[in-house]
Amino acid sequence: MSGKSGLRGWTLITGASEGLGREFAIIAAAEGRDLILAARQTDKMEALAETLRVRHKIAVEVIPTDLADEASVELLWRRASSRRRVDIVVNNAGLGYNGPFAAEDFSREQSSINVNITALTILMKRAIPHMQAAGGGRIMNIASTAAFMPGPRMAVYHATKSYVLSLTESVAEELRGSNVTVTVLCPGATATNFARDAKMEGIALFRALPVPSAESVAKSGWRAMLQGKRIRVTGLMNKIFAFAPRLAPRSLTARIVALFLK
Ligand SMILES: NC(=O)c1ccc[n+]([C@@H]2O[C@H](COP(=O)([O-])OP(=O)(O)OC[C@H]3O[C@@H](n4cnc5c(N)ncnc54)[C@H](OP(=O)(O)O)[C@@H]3O)[C@@H](O)[C@H]2O)c1
Repeated sequence: MSGKSGLRGWTLITGASEGLGREFAIIAAAEGRDLILAARQTDKMEALAETLRVRHKIAVEVIPTDLADEASVELLWRRASSRRRVDIVVNNAGLGYNGPFAAEDFSREQSSINVNITALTILMKRAIPHMQAAGGGRIMNIASTAAFMPGPRMAVYHATKSYVLSLTESVAEELRGSNVTVTVLCPGATATNFARDAKMEGIALFRALPVPSAESVAKSGWRAMLQGKRIRVTGLMNKIFAFAPRLAPRSLTARIVALFLK
């Protein structure tokens, strides 16, 4: 289906069962785009798919996938891209845990690394040549304001998001002047189940400031992606949070962030 930007292929969204991923699916569907939804909670994705098919007369395919498993990520891409053009990929799925690094169970951190880093990297790597061969495309990677600073008690999560920011900026520069763009969206605290799952609900970061809706954050990212912007940090306070670490010694930044993550 045709979308406002002129892109005419399918849109692949990871982590589309809830939160920001669900909102991206709703936005893309309203633009008449055909969708491929990937995550583990198949029932939630099927319910969303049916609503969007009926409401917008689009095609929606659900591909149940555990993105922590590398082989499943490769299979997802093969199924998503065989015999059709995928011209938008949203690498949205992500997770993290709040707790002291030395005490945290590595298997949980391994799943964060696999989903936040490995799956995202594989899908980018597969999508770019596919999009170049087909005449263009857009990729959006979801990082976080965590990408701009170390995160005591969320050390692995912050490190994974720094990776996503750095990778996106590097690849975006490699693609300069081409018809494929890569955007990194850096939200701050957002109203989804992320904080509950990450055991962050009580911490200062989520209590200190009003937390925007997933819908508003997703809309801001979506616009930036269609415009081919490299980085979108949502909200004024988050822009300040993202910029401030450049002015402070890194050890001081780590101490201040630790207060927000308590
Ligand atoms: N909410 C925030 O405060 C916030 C702030 C900054 C950045 N972010 C980033 O925004 C992105 C979306 O998070 P959200 O806030 O929307 O969180 P969410 O509501 O918890 O949704 C996370 C999504 O990721 C999927 N996911 C997690 N592990 C997966 C796996 N192994 N395989 C497949 N899918 C998996 C989940 O699907 P299943 O459980 O169905 O698999 C779910 O759809 C993440 O990258 C997160 O780091 C969030």
